[in-house]
Formats: sequence, structure tokens, C-alpha cells
Amino acid sequence: MGNQPVFILGIESSCDDTSAAVSKDAHILSNVTAGQEVHRLYGGVVPELASRAHQQNIVPVVNAALLKAGIGMSDLHGIAFTRGPGLLGSLLVGGSFAKALALGRNLPLMEVNHMQAHIHAHFIEEDEKLIPSFPLLCLTVSGGHTQIVLMNGLFEMEVIGETIDDAAGEAFDKAAKILGLPYPGGPLVDRLAASGNPNAYKFPHPRIPGLDFSFSGVKTSFLYFVEGQTRLDPDFIELHKADLCASIQNTIVSILLDKLQDASNQTGIRTVLISGGVAANSGLRKALEAKSAKMGWTVFIPKFEYCTDNAAMIAITGYYKFLRKEFASQSVSPAARYLL
Ligand code: KG4
Ligand code: ZN
Repeated sequence: MGNQPVFILGIESSCDDTSAAVSKDAHILSNVTAGQEVHRLYGGVVPELASRAHQQNIVPVVNAALLKAGIGMSDLHGIAFTRGPGLLGSLLVGGSFAKALALGRNLPLMEVNHMQAHIHAHFIEEDEKLIPSFPLLCLTVSGGHTQIVLMNGLFEMEVIGETIDDAAGEAFDKAAKILGLPYPGGPLVDRLAASGNPNAYKFPHPRIPGLDFSFSGVKTSFLYFVEGQTRLDPDFIELHKADLCASIQNTIVSILLDKLQDASNQTGIRTVLISGGVAANSGLRKALEAKSAKMGWTVFIPKFEYCTDNAAMIAITGYYKFLRKEFASQSVSPAARYLL
């Protein structure tokens, strides 16, 4: 390729966001996402509706990403897409589109693990931005996963801790639902928590051995507490919403950071990253900064747009795979459960 820049189109369709991005080497030129409002009505993602919406959104989103990047199809060097994990019907839309495009344009195809890509978002190059060095620990917290990953290289990843039940994002969303907030509730809890007291209410921390997490007990104790108080005072939620949000957020964040601290102590690794949708949480971002000062960690927190699902992270993983000549064949199929 010489000094010619490499342009990759990334496509993400694992859940309820249809996203396309264009990278130029390790830089991102465009990152366009269409969300799906339809799920709000149902209080969660409806897989059948998600697939249909991806089908409607994918062509306009890809066109917008190319337009914004200022390049045409003929400038691309490869197509990267999310192979999994995610909803099968949703993955099929992005995957089939990527395969068709690669076939039609005779371009290499790179299949991407969505959880790997959440971490690789840290390896997008931007002016003034530092790139993490190895070894490192990454706490990946999303709607479907909660993992501590030890990395010795870009593609050398080992999961050393993970949730045994709910993911951290799920815990936020379920707590929000208990408070009557619409889906996805995580960002709303975050916003309301800003004006609440994080120590107003205490919820017990789970006792899970090793570096694994559990959030189902926290959710249940939150539910019982809110139900009990609402029986005494029907306006309890309305009167104490901010304190409830701040307290549950504080509980979830401290469970996450306690385990991250254990992982750092056990491995001796002090370079610490967070990634995934819940990495957008302001309570987590603030608490991680505070902990890093105390523990002497070097922490990396992604830009907001690279926390929740996006195709920039898919394009960047695709770019690094392109450099390694790790190409997928046309027979590649989605992997709803795709382990790291
Ligand atoms: O990574 P992501 O966009 O999709 C998955 O791969 O799951 O993560 C979505 C999750 C949802 O549970 C959402 O409520 C949560 O991330 N989330 C947040 C915030 N922004 C997104 N949770 C807490 N605070 C936020 N600011
Ligand atoms: Zn995700």
C-alpha cells in the first residue's frame, strides 16, 4: 500500500443502533448512527423490530458516512462488520450488507467481535490523544456484558472477570424501569443522579469470589426497597427520584471499581481503561478519575460517542485486521454468542 492511506468502511448492527463509519488509517473521518425510537414503547429492544429498522436504515446510514467522509465507494480498501455478539436478526442485516458490498466491489472483508471493538475504540488516533500501552486492564461495561479484560496486545485479550448474571447496563436499565423511567434508562439515571445524594440509601454489595460480578441481587434489593417505601407513601419515587438514582448509581459504580481494584492488585497492572455504553456514565467516569489518583493508575476514558454502540470502533478493529491481513470469507455467518 506504500504511503497510500487505507480507507475502511465499518458497519455495526448488533442491537438497536444502525451505524456506519469511515476510517482513514487509524483516524475516523465519519461515524453516523441511526437509533431506533420504536423500542421505547415496549420498555426494551424488540428483536424483530430491530431487524426491520436496520433494514430500513442501513443504506442511508452508509451513504451518509461516505458523504461525510468525503470519499466514494471506489476509494474503499475494505469492509468491516460486526459478526457478534448480538441479536441474530440484527447481525444478519449488517453482515449480509457488508458481504454483498465486499463481493460486488471485490474488497476484503473483516469480521469484528463487538466486545473487542468496544476496547479498540481506545486505539482510534486523534490529535493530542494518548494511545494506551500494554499490558493493560479494560473494564467493558455495556447493556449485554460486564467484563474485566487483560490485554497484552491489540488482539491478545483474556477475560479475567465477568458478570454471572445481569450486565452493568442492564442493572441501570432495570433500576430505571423500577422508577418508571423509559428504556434505555441508564442515561436518565445518570442525569437525575447529578442532583441527588449518592449516600441517601444503601444497597448491599454482592459477595462474589474472584473477579466476577453480580448485579441481580442489587436489583432485587432496590426493587423491594422501592416497593416497600411506595406502600408507605405512594409519592415516594417522585419525591426521592434524584436520591434513588444517585444511590443506585453509586452502588453499581462502586461494585465495578472494587473489582477493578482487585484485578489491578492481583495482576500488578496499573494502566486501566473503561469502555462500552456504561463508560458514558458520569458517576463512573468521576469515580474512576478519583480512584486513579489514589491508586497511581493511568486511566483512559473514551469520548462519549465511542462509548455507546458505534461503527467507528468497528472500522478501527477492521483497520488493524486489514494490516494483519485477517480477512473473512464470503461464508462467514453471524455469531450471536461470540466469545472474546
Ligand atoms: O455498549 P452499548 O451501547 O450497547 C451494548 O453493546 O449493550 O451499551 C448500552 C447500555 C445500556 O444499558 C444503557 O442504558 C447504558 O449502556 N448506558 C448508560 C449510560 N449511557 C448508556 N448507563 C449509565 N449511564 C449512562 N450515561
Ligand atoms: Zn456495545
